[in-house]
Amino acid sequence: MNLEQQLIQYRRELHRFPELSMQEYQTTQRIRTWLSEAGITILDLPLKTGVVAEVRGSLPGATIALRADIDALPIVEQSGVEFSSENPGVMHACGHDFHTAVMVGAAILLQQEREQMRGTVRFLFQPAEEDANGAKWLTEQGAMEAIQAVFGFHNRPNLPVGVIGVREGALMASVDRFELTITGISGHAGMPENCIDPIAIGSQIVMALQTIVSRRISSLDNAVISVTRFSAGNTWNVIPGEAHLEGTVRTFQKDVRARISELMRELIENIAAANGAKVQFKWNECLPMVNNSSLFTSIIKQVANEAGLRVVEAERSLGGEDFAYFQALVPGFFLWIGVDGDQEWHHPAYRLSEAALEISARYWALLARAVLEKGI
Ligand code: NI
Repeated sequence: MNLEQQLIQYRRELHRFPELSMQEYQTTQRIRTWLSEAGITILDLPLKTGVVAEVRGSLPGATIALRADIDALPIVEQSGVEFSSENPGVMHACGHDFHTAVMVGAAILLQQEREQMRGTVRFLFQPAEEDANGAKWLTEQGAMEAIQAVFGFHNRPNLPVGVIGVREGALMASVDRFELTITGISGHAGMPENCIDPIAIGSQIVMALQTIVSRRISSLDNAVISVTRFSAGNTWNVIPGEAHLEGTVRTFQKDVRARISELMRELIENIAAANGAKVQFKWNECLPMVNNSSLFTSIIKQVANEAGLRVVEAERSLGGEDFAYFQALVPGFFLWIGVDGDQEWHHPAYRLSEAALEISARYWALLARAVLEKGI
């Protein structure tokens, strides 16, 4: 069996048996088996799921990491492919099966070339990307120790096979979550003058928050504020005592991120105070932004050209990606790889082209060699 056939087989096997975040037991076992069969060293870390492995070159050099996420989503598959999910209600609808197979392929290729290879390539088969906890958890288990640079990718359905999307600087947004509780005074709906109505106040707050992006930050800075939950009351003739709201903020710059949280607090507290209500505002930082280091832009493009891949400027995404945690520790680069899909990520009929498997594996092996040859 040649490499392409092997990777298609691996990817289909992963696709048939998808597992949710932090439950990737069989997936972990499969990856371990495939790597072991290729003679690749698996590191002995205290991992519940996920695999960390290394290919060590014969020549001295740096240590870099290549990362693939391995988890699936709670979606009922409707793709119609013959290797559809056999785990009911769970589906590889984000293509992490593709990511995993590609990086197994890159590891196999590098293992064959290790006599001529400089430095070490560590492979991070990371669990739990979908719940945004896996990268941090894997780091806490020691997976990033001694790593000097980190690289990763996501498949991109709207790019054709043979194309990669590259962008220096911010590629994916930071993700924050906010919650607020407005406390008013409950009472008879016919006599609102005796109450403080948290629904009316919450409505003012929702509308005022929309003015932060449109009026308070530069229109050259991209940001999103979405209120996604507004719950209050339980009947028609009682003004409730409390309203609960939550939502998310997405930004591409640290200063804009900090400014938005300040402006939100100020608006929310002042609107509540002007209406005689109390408010509690909680801001939870979920993920930093995926921020690509300029150190690697030219080598990434150059190796792509050598590998026969076409490079396009990557579109930014307001989705989050916990690869950002690794980049908060060491410089790194995250890119898009075209897979010619016919749906967006997380769609129950998500499909991608397996023609991208082998070329992607070869690209990562070439890039790792080139980065280590050049030095960091
Ligand atoms: Ni994904």
